[in-house]
Order: sequence, then C-alpha cells, then structure tokens
Amino acid sequence: MEEYRRRAAEKATEYLKDGMVIGLGTGRTATYAIRKIGKLVRAGMKITAVSTSDATTALAGAEGINVSSLDEHPVIDVTIDGADEVDPSLNLVKGKGGALLREKIIAYSTRDEIIVVDESKLVGRLGEKEAIPVEILKFGYLNTVSHLSDLGCSVALRMQDGHLFVTDNGNYIADCRFTSINQPSELHSRINTIPGVIDNGMFLGMAARVLVGREREVTVLERKRR
Ligand code: A5P
Repeated sequence: MEEYRRRAAEKATEYLKDGMVIGLGTGRTATYAIRKIGKLVRAGMKITAVSTSDATTALAGAEGINVSSLDEHPVIDVTIDGADEVDPSLNLVKGKGGALLREKIIAYSTRDEIIVVDESKLVGRLGEKEAIPVEILKFGYLNTVSHLSDLGCSVALRMQDGHLFVTDNGNYIADCRFTSINQPSELHSRINTIPGVIDNGMFLGMAARVLVGREREVTVLERKRR
C-alpha cells in the first residue's frame, strides 16, 4: 500500500505547473509528493508553497521549496494532501496526523484540491473504519468531550508519548467513533456547533479529485468543482 501511495503521490505532482501557488499536505502520502516537488524545484520549476503543518514546513524547507504564508497567498492553485477515508462522493475523513485544521483552511482556499490515497482508504460511508478527529480547545476540554459523547459516539482523547497530543495550533484532538454516519453534513454541523470545538476532520465537498494508488495503476476519481 505504501508503494501504491508513493506512485499516486508522484503522479499528483503532474498537475503542478510553473508559477503556481501550491498547498502542501501533511502525512506519509504528502511526504512522497513533497519529496517529488523538491526534485522538480531543484530541476528548475518555480513554485510557491503554503504548508499545512510545522512538520511539512520543515520538510519543504529541507527540500529547497519556497514556503510562504496563506496571508501572502490567499488563493492556492493546487493542494496535494492525503486522507484517511474517501467516500463515493469524494467526501473525506482527515486528521489522523493531527493537522486537520490547517489542512481544511488551506483546502477551502484551494482551486484544485487533489487527494492521494491507496485503495484501502475507499469506504462506502465516512466513519466506517476511522474515528472522526475533532480539534478542541484546551479550555474546558472535558466538558467539550462530554458534549461530543452526547452525539452518540465514543470519544478518545488522542495521546502521544503518554501525554495528551497537542496540535500545531496548541489544541487537543478528540477522536470520535460513530457506529454509523448517515448524514455527514448534519453531523458536521452538530459537531462544530459545540462551543470548544474548533473543527472536525470531515472534509465535505472539498476534494476536486482523488488519485487512488492500486496494484497496477493509479486511477483518478473526479467530482464537479465548487
Ligand atoms: C494529517 O492530519 C492527515 O489529514 C493526513 O493527511 C491523513 O491522515 C493521511 O495521512 P497518511 O498519508 O499518512 O496516511
């Protein structure tokens, strides 16, 4: 699967053109794309990048990619990112790497959001395999967790090295596992209405195309643009 993802991530870079502002995703799949973009830049391609996490900023810098800010480049031509689940309408679950908030802010300002996955991440319904990550404020977090549980999910606060995981934005992540998600957009609103929730990892209607790495090929799934 790792190899399928690498091939698909490298193929995604074929959508990049000289002079573009590009969004760089976070995670293992995005790392393959960033390494390939590094090679393209060293071969003379001129691009400006906006990053979705501190880890990606560091990697991009090491690859010699020019990283700027969303404030300086509010419109992004193409973003390449990974995902944890993709449903048949190309709605996504993201955030296993903890970068969902910046990823969503950047996806929202991107003309062509390209998601790269291996075929194991294709699901019939969001939440089928993965919990929905929810970024929550530290203030009153136990209270926020309790309100999330009231939505009918089991909630686990994400841990790292024996401590609560802290995002690049200084917040916690509550991983919310639902038995079945029938109406993703309704659930998205209900989660985000809870005070203390900053955003959740459902990306609805944001992916323009999904490149799926399979054993013999990379297939491209497309949806109508926003
Ligand atoms: C980062 O927070 C995530 O949204 C990743 O994009 C997602 O978890 C996919 O990661 P991998 O490419 O590492 O599977």
